[in-house]
Amino acid sequence: MIEAVGLTKRYGDKTAVDDLSFQVRPGMVTGFLGPNGSGKSTTMRMILGLDTPTAGHVTVNGSPYRSLPNAPRHVGALLDAKAVHGGRDAYRHLLSIAQLSGIPAHRVDDVLELVGLSEVAGRRTKGFSLGMGQRLGIAAALLGDPQVLLFDEPVNGLDPEGILWVRNLMKSLAAEGRTVFVSSHLMSEMALTADHLVVIARGRLLADMSVREFIAANSAGFARVRVPDTGPQQREALTAALTRAGAQVLPEQDGALRVTGLPLPRISDVAHEAEVRLWELSPHHASLEEAYMRLTQGMVDYRSSADPQIGMRPAPVPGRSDGWDPDPGPGAPFQPVHAADGPTFSKDPR
Ligand SMILES: Nc1ncnc2c1ncn2[C@@H]1O[C@H](COP(=O)(O)OP(=O)(O)OP(=O)(O)O)[C@@H](O)[C@H]1O
Ligand SMILES: [Mg+2]
Repeated sequence: MIEAVGLTKRYGDKTAVDDLSFQVRPGMVTGFLGPNGSGKSTTMRMILGLDTPTAGHVTVNGSPYRSLPNAPRHVGALLDAKAVHGGRDAYRHLLSIAQLSGIPAHRVDDVLELVGLSEVAGRRTKGFSLGMGQRLGIAAALLGDPQVLLFDEPVNGLDPEGILWVRNLMKSLAAEGRTVFVSSHLMSEMALTADHLVVIARGRLLADMSVREFIAANSAGFARVRVPDTGPQQREALTAALTRAGAQVLPEQDGALRVTGLPLPRISDVAHEAEVRLWELSPHHASLEEAYMRLTQGMVDYRSSADPQIGMRPAPVPGRSDGWDPDPGPGAPFQPVHAADGPTFSKDPR
């Protein structure tokens, strides 16, 4: 278990981490998400005692990292895979870490085997590719067989086989009851790997909830409705009837209708009352990527001028039963949400 309370880090007048409180629980993979420069790596460094908080504190299994007896046996981390002595071979690199931490030497062979680097164990690490370096970093994190694991962007540079392997590794470590805290910018991968999410932007907590709750809270689910292709009258009649019933109806490219604001049974009833037959009535949920983009829009510091978030759908509005806002605009207020507390919403005071 990792617990941060009011964790804050300032560098001069820059507040990298701002009053962050959250828990990372054992037995599940917790994804740590946030735009570039939002404070993820800084938070991880404070968890590992590599940076001292300006205010607040963070504990691992109840103690600050620096107070843990033989910390590498309890906590393993991959922060920067390039932080290795390039002149050493992979085996000696890991052996030196093991010897410094009182970890038996046979663990070096075990983890090299686990990450698939046994064949290159005698090669100097300065000749390693990006992905080989990531694998070596993951091996170092696993060396002490720790209960708590932190990975900062572990799939960075890995090939598809490696990404799948990391996904399965994280899940199996969590299934063994370990605490797994992993940052990533790959939303599709996080959707498959993480059970729970901690989302930050500009150092502040935006959301702390399960992946499922996060998507539900930050995206409008919708229904796809298709009527027989026998002319526009049926579509128009259904669109009018649904709109009268309080739904929002948008045309899809393939001729179907995207309906929000009404549950599926009600859509079916409205169609029946309007004497319109349906060929499709299906529920749809937004992706994690879409939900994340909505939550963090307006909170991203570094964005290409050529990519003004084309195609973004509007964010749902708290308090509106249909969850639909036609255009929240780029400066829409962010909504910090704790699953345990029920939704709370506040305006960004910046
Ligand atoms: N040692 C430092 N000195 C000064 N500023 C720092 C230092 N470390 C981090 N920062 C600043 O703190 C902010 C948060 O940085 P951090 O590396 O934690 O972000 P991040 O969420 O990990 O970003 P990314 O997704 O790009 O890895 C940034 O504005 C960064 O410039
Ligand atoms: Mg980082």
